Amino acid sequence: MAPISSKTKSPFTKSDNLLFDPALIPASIQESLPAGYVVRPLARSDNQVRSNSSFLKTLEVLTTVGTISDDAFQRRFQYLKEHSDQYFTIVIEDMNVPPTSAGSATSSSPSLVTPGRGKIVAAGTVLVERKFIHELGMVGHIEDIAVSADQQGKKLGLRIIETLKAIGQQVGCYKVILDCSEKNVPFYEKCGFERKGVEMGWYV
Ligand code: ACO
Repeated sequence: MAPISSKTKSPFTKSDNLLFDPALIPASIQESLPAGYVVRPLARSDNQVRSNSSFLKTLEVLTTVGTISDDAFQRRFQYLKEHSDQYFTIVIEDMNVPPTSAGSATSSSPSLVTPGRGKIVAAGTVLVERKFIHELGMVGHIEDIAVSADQQGKKLGLRIIETLKAIGQQVGCYKVILDCSEKNVPFYEKCGFERKGVEMGWYV
């Protein structure tokens, strides 16, 4: 893979609320988003529904999500957090929402941006598999890419994929792969992927 910029900076700081260290997200990707949009790790608080938009709502463009209690969400988040060198789930949040009684959605100081003040509009995951082959090589598996229906076509999907590729590369993956439907092939080609092999599935 081509090298990525080592200059990483995020408007978020590492915290217990975030799934992983936001310093893994390249500043260049944050800077390429539309004004008021931020890319960050999934947060514990992302189960809250604001303006009918939350992380789980965003995933509904992909498939059925079902009813997930806050307790179940927190338990799943905690599992991912305890394996945070393996699960990297990111979201893009639109902070251009009306201020709440708690104050405005954004701050003049980028380090004070608070996760969950805006609307989540896109999400994606890279899962890092640790192998024996290739001298204990690591492979990134991209999963569950979703952009809210009313936000598609703004290059948010592209930015999600760029971020996940960059994370995979920084943590040491020798390749990043994914499965998709035929209709999404042109999108992933635009994101720098090429056809390799055949996907097989077995459903219980
Ligand atoms: N066919 C052809 N080109 C496409 C398509 C498509 N279906 N989708 C996007 N593109 C192109 C865009 O035109 C753009 O090209 P350009 O750079 O020449 O202008 C480029 O790909 C980037 O497009 P984005 O604006 O970043 O795409 P978007 O933000 O709409 O996200 C996505 C694309 C993720 C497929 C979105 O439409 C979506 O969420 N769809 C529903 C859920 C889904 O199918 N997710 C992927 C499942 S596969 C997986 O998770 C591994």
